[in-house]
Amino acid sequence: MKSYRFLTPPTIYYGIGALESSCDKLSDLGNRPLLVTDKVMTDIGYVNKLVNYLEKQKVAVSLFNEVNTEPTDHYIENGLHLFKENHCDFLIALGGGSPIDVAKAISIMVSNPGKIQDYMGLGKVQQEGPPIVAIPTTSGTGSEVTQFTIITDTKNDIKMLIGSEYIVPKIAINDPILTISVPPGITAATGIDALTHAIEAYTSRRHQPLADIFALSSIKRISKYLRRAWANGDDKKARSEMMLAALEAGMAFNNSSVTIVHGMSRPLGALFHIPHGISNAVLLPACLEYAIMGLPERFVDVAKAIGVCVNNLSDLDFAKEGVMQIKKLCEDIEIPSISGLGIDKNAFMKQLDKMASDALASCSPYNNAGKPSNEVIIKIYEQSF
Ligand SMILES: NC(=O)c1ccc[n+]([C@@H]2O[C@H](COP(=O)([O-])OP(=O)(O)OC[C@H]3O[C@@H](n4cnc5c(N)ncnc54)[C@H](O)[C@@H]3O)[C@@H](O)[C@H]2O)c1
Ligand SMILES: [Fe+2]
Repeated sequence: MKSYRFLTPPTIYYGIGALESSCDKLSDLGNRPLLVTDKVMTDIGYVNKLVNYLEKQKVAVSLFNEVNTEPTDHYIENGLHLFKENHCDFLIALGGGSPIDVAKAISIMVSNPGKIQDYMGLGKVQQEGPPIVAIPTTSGTGSEVTQFTIITDTKNDIKMLIGSEYIVPKIAINDPILTISVPPGITAATGIDALTHAIEAYTSRRHQPLADIFALSSIKRISKYLRRAWANGDDKKARSEMMLAALEAGMAFNNSSVTIVHGMSRPLGALFHIPHGISNAVLLPACLEYAIMGLPERFVDVAKAIGVCVNNLSDLDFAKEGVMQIKKLCEDIEIPSISGLGIDKNAFMKQLDKMASDALASCSPYNNAGKPSNEVIIKIYEQSF
């Protein structure tokens, strides 16, 4: 076997009650955190709950609760200003992938010169910034365990992928109780995001044995529990399994990388403001139909993890049956199509060239087994509309 590197946060607390039982460990990182979150977290009482725990530890929290859409460069400037003004010494992110990604980008900008755009790509960050604690409240992005942050460059309408091992959170706290309040539409979108991470990690050209274990386990859990979590948000068993699945998928793609679906979904988010999970979901079937041709045997494993059980099929047909099951899952949890999102067909077609070139420029599609051409990417966009 060749050698690999597996990157992960040093400490992960997980399971029901993880937030309360780990809060006293956060003061090890500092005593003046900037809490990066969104207004929904304030409204539903999570911010108060966390601040109360922290005040008992004599930790003085500064609040930045303005991350109300998927993150743009403007959020980073505002958050950085607050961090410096309040002499903060570490970051706590509470929320979905958006606040977590903002906290990571602020950490970069505290210790490195220039603007966030300067760090687009992998390995460009030179100095480690203040430590990050990530507390996810959706079961989707896995950002709490990854080296990535995704920030929209508002000038060029690009979702920038920034990767650095310096932004892997020092502590991740995955408490599924925080996800009970997630509405069904967001449960569906974030669940499919996690499923996409797991499938892409497992079928990436950069797949590796340890990440494979997490990826397959995640696919099994999501296939079994996403419908349940979507249908009944109060189902603690389903919420716990989904949070664990999103964490596993994050560990997997952090090391094996994402591929064509994520590469193609970022331009949809940047140009048409489609939420991240939905932008993956609408592309997933057409992308996978293309991707299985490059690596059918790995897609057979994916189909088995999904629960496909049919005899006498070729590898390719067995793998295709897996894609059919994913389509069915997306229908069952009412994932809309691109046209169903109200996007104008002409406006969409006009952006095909930009979307394809931005997708390829992100390099994620090149992790796919059969490296897709510009023409293939355009065809998948057209097919997915
Ligand atoms: N860094 C990474 O590794 C990585 C990976 C995948 C996606 N992402 C990024 O993550 C972002 C998407 O994150 P997301 O899908 O978690 O969504 P999000 O953070 O944008 O949140 C979506 C909505 O859900 C609400 N919400 C979150 N938790 C809730 C709760 N417990 N109860 C009620 N409402 C709740 C939020 O207030 C918001 O309105 C995108 O910008 C995407 O690019 C990052
Ligand atoms: Fe994602």
